[in-house]
Amino acid sequence: MQGSLFENDSSASTQKESPAKFRDLSDLYEQSKNCTRCRLAATRTNFVFGEGNPEAQIVVIGEAPGAEEDTQGRPFVGRSGKLLDKILEAIGFSRDDVFICNIIKCRPPENRNPLSDEIECCMPWLKTQLQLIKPKILLLLGRVAANTVLDNKQSMGNLRGKIIRWSGYDVIVTYHPAALLRNPNWKRHCWEDVKMLRSHYDTLQS
Ligand code: URA
Repeated sequence: MQGSLFENDSSASTQKESPAKFRDLSDLYEQSKNCTRCRLAATRTNFVFGEGNPEAQIVVIGEAPGAEEDTQGRPFVGRSGKLLDKILEAIGFSRDDVFICNIIKCRPPENRNPLSDEIECCMPWLKTQLQLIKPKILLLLGRVAANTVLDNKQSMGNLRGKIIRWSGYDVIVTYHPAALLRNPNWKRHCWEDVKMLRSHYDTLQS
């Protein structure tokens, strides 16, 4: 049940941008793009909402926009994004088949990790995106995305390589493309994870 995401989320139920208020993803974009919920609004160039198929069965979630994403206002368009495109292509998907977004919609200065209060401010946007898109599968890229969405502190070794049933979604965790660029040895694990994603997606179609 997608709505269960909002349980225990007092910020989502009390904020004026409650999920019920948004007609669709475009409406959510219009109402979120000038967000000033946290300090990152002051240093961003663009709010990076996310892009792709508004009815995607798969939502790919990264950590936060980098410099190139901040400039273009689009997720995963820098070096990591090129690798993500290749990973998706390798399992027969294009960017238009999925929806790609991040935990945090604005670039943290100097690409530092998002702070916990920034994550807290931004999560209602992601939760609302998921509520509107209603995907079946979430692909979480990297530990920050995984630990944030799943609300745990588990290691990548514990999280990857399996399907985690969470809040009505089938969740697959794999390495962030930036980590794969630094450690190409992890690519074979990522390949296993995304092959599993593809076969699970195919099973859900039948
Ligand atoms: N890294 C991310 O996590 N997200 C982006 O959009 C780009 C790089």
